Amino acid sequence: MRIDILTVLPSLLESPFADSILKRAIEKGHVEVHVHNIRDYSESKHKQVDDYQYGGGAGMVLMAEPIAKCIDKLQTERKYDEIIYMTPDGKTLDQRDVNGFSLLKNLLIICGHYKGIDQRIRDEYVTREISIGDYVLSGGELAAAVLCDAIIRLIPGVLSDETSALTDSFQDDLLAPPVYTRPEEWRGRRVPDILLGGNHRDIENWRMDEALRRTRERRPDLLDEN
Ligand code: ADE
Repeated sequence: MRIDILTVLPSLLESPFADSILKRAIEKGHVEVHVHNIRDYSESKHKQVDDYQYGGGAGMVLMAEPIAKCIDKLQTERKYDEIIYMTPDGKTLDQRDVNGFSLLKNLLIICGHYKGIDQRIRDEYVTREISIGDYVLSGGELAAAVLCDAIIRLIPGVLSDETSALTDSFQDDLLAPPVYTRPEEWRGRRVPDILLGGNHRDIENWRMDEALRRTRERRPDLLDEN
C-alpha cells in the first residue's frame, strides 16, 4: 500500500511514523508513506497557501490551486483508490471504514488547516470525507495519523501475530474482553481462575461473555438486541 498525505505542516506527521509498529511496517515494505508540503506547490512569491474567506468571517482557508497542483502531479504517477479529506464534518470513522481502506492500494489524504480547504477542491477531487470524532482539532494532521495507524496495523504481516487484529475491539462489533499478565495476584487482585486453568474452550466462552457484558454496559448501541 502507498499513502500520500498533503499538509501545510509536514513536521506534525514525522513522529507518528518514526516509532514502533508504523516504523517497522514502513521498514519492512508493507506500506510507503509520503508526506507532501502543500507550500511547495504555491507559485506566489511568499509561498502563500491560505487566504481570507469570501463573505467575511474569522479564519483563513487553504487555497485551491496549490492543493490541486500537488494532487495533479501525484495523479500523473498513479491512480488513487480514494482521495480522503480529513474534516470534522465528514463521516465519523469506524472499524468498518478502516477495514475497507486497508484493502486498497493507493490512498491520498488531504489535511485541512485553519478554517479548512476551498470547497472546490472537495467538489473536484475528494471521494471520501472522514472525521475521527465529534470534536475539532487544529488541523487534519493528527486525524490523518490516527487514520493511517488504524489502517496500517491491519495490513497482513504488519502485526507480528496476525490474529491479534482480528480480536480487536469492534472487529466483531464487540468491545474486547479484559486481559491480564503476570503476576497472578497483584495488590490483592487475582487473575480470574478460568484464565489460569488451561481449558481453551472455557477460556473462549469466558472471553465472549466478558466481551458481551462490556459491550452491553458501555456501548449498547453496538448490539442488535436493543
Ligand atoms: N480536522 C479537524 N478536526 C477534525 C476531526 N475531528 N476529524 C478529522 N479531521 C479534523
